[in-house]
Amino acid sequence: MKQKRWAGVATFIFAGLAATLQAGLFLVIKNLTNLINEGNNTSSSVVLHMVGVLVITMITINILHRVSGVLAAWWVTHMKAFAGEISFNYLLRHSAGYFSDRLSGKLQNKINNIAVAMDALTGKIVEGFFMLFIQLAIFILYAFVANKMIGFASIVLIGVITVYSVVAASGLAKAIKRYAKQGAITQGIIVDIIANVLATKQNVAIKKEEKHVQNVLDKYRKVHLNVWWRFSTVSMVGNFLAAIMFGVVVGLAVYYWQLGIITAGDVMLFITMLLTLYGNLEALGSSINYFVENKGKLQEGLEAIFIPYEIKDLPNAKKVNIKEGEIIFDCVNFHYKDDKKNTVFQNLSLTIPAGQKVGLVGESGAGKSTFVSLLLRFMDVESGTIRVDGHNIKKIKQDDLRRAIAYVPQEALLFHRTLEENIKYSHPRATKKEIILASKRAYALDFIKSFPKGFKTLVGERGVKLSGGQKQRVMIARAMLKKSPILVLDEATSALDSQAERKIQKALESLMEDRTTIAIAHRLSTLKQMDRIIVFDGGKIVEDGTHDELVKKKGKYYQLWKWQK
Ligand SMILES: Nc1ncnc2c1ncn2[C@@H]1O[C@H](COP(=O)(O)OP(=O)(O)OP(=O)(O)O)[C@@H](O)[C@H]1O
Ligand SMILES: [Mg+2]
Repeated sequence: MKQKRWAGVATFIFAGLAATLQAGLFLVIKNLTNLINEGNNTSSSVVLHMVGVLVITMITINILHRVSGVLAAWWVTHMKAFAGEISFNYLLRHSAGYFSDRLSGKLQNKINNIAVAMDALTGKIVEGFFMLFIQLAIFILYAFVANKMIGFASIVLIGVITVYSVVAASGLAKAIKRYAKQGAITQGIIVDIIANVLATKQNVAIKKEEKHVQNVLDKYRKVHLNVWWRFSTVSMVGNFLAAIMFGVVVGLAVYYWQLGIITAGDVMLFITMLLTLYGNLEALGSSINYFVENKGKLQEGLEAIFIPYEIKDLPNAKKVNIKEGEIIFDCVNFHYKDDKKNTVFQNLSLTIPAGQKVGLVGESGAGKSTFVSLLLRFMDVESGTIRVDGHNIKKIKQDDLRRAIAYVPQEALLFHRTLEENIKYSHPRATKKEIILASKRAYALDFIKSFPKGFKTLVGERGVKLSGGQKQRVMIARAMLKKSPILVLDEATSALDSQAERKIQKALESLMEDRTTIAIAHRLSTLKQMDRIIVFDGGKIVEDGTHDELVKKKGKYYQLWKWQK
C-alpha cells in the first residue's frame, strides 16, 4: 500500500471532505425546514438563497467525490499492479519442488486473487468504512447538539450495529476462505485438463472429465452458497437493526419536538440523514463481509505464495565464476520429500574431473534425472555435499551455478514465443549469426527455414506445434548458444531418428570439447565415445569405466548393451 502513497493520502483527504460536506447538507435542510415552519412571512429571497447553497454544496460534493475517485484509481491501479508483480517475482524464485507440488492454474488464480483483492479492499476501506465513519461521527455530533438522550441512543444503536457486523463477519471468514480455496482448486483442475486435452480425447474421457469438473464445480457451488447464505443472514439482521435505529431516533426526535425541546428542522435533519445512512448502515454487515471475503482471498493467496523458499542463497553466498567444471558428489543422500520409503541416493560419491565426458546409464527410475537436478540445485541434498570447482553448491549463488551449466532437459521447456526467442533464451545477447550457427549445428536450421515464418514462428504452448525431434533440436540449439563449462544432456536426442541422431551427435561432440559433459541416454550407442560411463542401479553406482571396459566386464552395462545390439 506504500505504492504512490501521496495519491492514497490525497484520496482519503478528498473523500473525507466529500463526506463532511455531505453531512453538512443536512444542516441546510434543517434551516430550510425551520424557515418553512415559520410560515408565509419568510422572505422568498432567503429561501432562494438557501436553495442555492444546497445546490452549490451538492455540486461541490460531486466534484470532491470525482477527484477522490480519480486519485483512488491512480493509487489502486498502481497498488494492484505492484501486488501482482511482487507475488509473481516471489513465486518464480520458489524451488522446483514447490512447483511440482502445485497446479499452475491454481497458482495463477492465487496471483490474480491477490491483485483483485487489493483493489476491492481499498475501495471498501474508502467508500464503505472511512466515509461512513465520518458521516456517523457527524450524525452523533448533531444528535448530541440537539438533545443528549438522542445522542446516547444513537451511540448505543450504532455501537450495536457495528459490533454485530464485526462479529457476524468474523464468523464468515472461515467460510470465505474455504470458498477462495475451492476456487483455486477448481481453476487448477480445469487448467490441468485443458493442458492435457489430447489425452482426454484419445482416451475417450471427455464424458469422464465433464463429470469430474461437474463434481468440482458442484463443490464450489456449495461452498459459495454457504457464503451467500451467511451473507444474506447478516444483511437481514443488519437491515432489522438499522430499521430499529431509524424508529427509535425519529420517535425520540418527534417526542422532544412535541415537548418543544428541539425544532422541526432537527426532526427533518434526523429523518433525511438517517434515510441516506440507512442503506450504508444496513450494508455495513455486507461491507464487512466483502472486506473479509477479499481479505480472505488476499490472505489465502499470500499464504500460498509468500512461504519461505526451500532453496535459497545463503546471506553470505559467494559470487563465483565457475570456469573449469569439476564436479564432485561427496556421500550424497537424497529422497523425495513425499516419498520417505524410497531413497533415491545413498552415500553416492563420484568425482568428475574438469573436461571429462561422462555417460550416465541405468534403468528408468534409477535416478539419472534426479542426479542432474541435484547438480543444478533444483533440490537440495539431504546430507553430503556437491562441489563444483571446489565450491559447495549450497554456499554459492544459485545463479552463478546455473550460469555455468548448459542443460538440455528430458522434457523440452519451450515458451509460446518465437523460435528465435526460444533459442536465444540461454544467451539473450546472441547475434542473429550466432543463432543461425547454433541452429545449424543443432541440425535445426533446415526445418526452421521450411516454416513460412522461419525464426519468427510461434511454437505453441510448451512447443506443441513442433514435432518431438524438432523440440529437442531447438533445446540443443539453445544449449549450444550458452558458453558454459558444464554441459548436461538428459536424453537430448531420444526423439530423433538414428540418421539425424548420428549427424547431431557429431555436433554434440564438438560442443562437448573443452566442457565437462554429463550425457544421459538409453540408446547406448550414443555414449560410445564418452570418456567414461557410469551405471546407476538402485541409487548406487554399480559400474564405472569406459565402454570397452564395461563390455568386457560382462556386468549390468554389458546386459543392456547386448539387448540393444
Ligand atoms: N518430483 C518428484 N517427486 C517425487 N518423486 C520423484 C520425482 N521425480 C522423480 N521421482 C522419483 O525418483 C526416482 C528417480 O527418478 P528419475 O527421474 O531420476 O529417474 P531416471 O533415471 O531419470 O529415469 P528415466 O530414465 O525414466 O528418465 C523415481 O522412482 C521417480 O519416481
Ligand atoms: Mg530421467
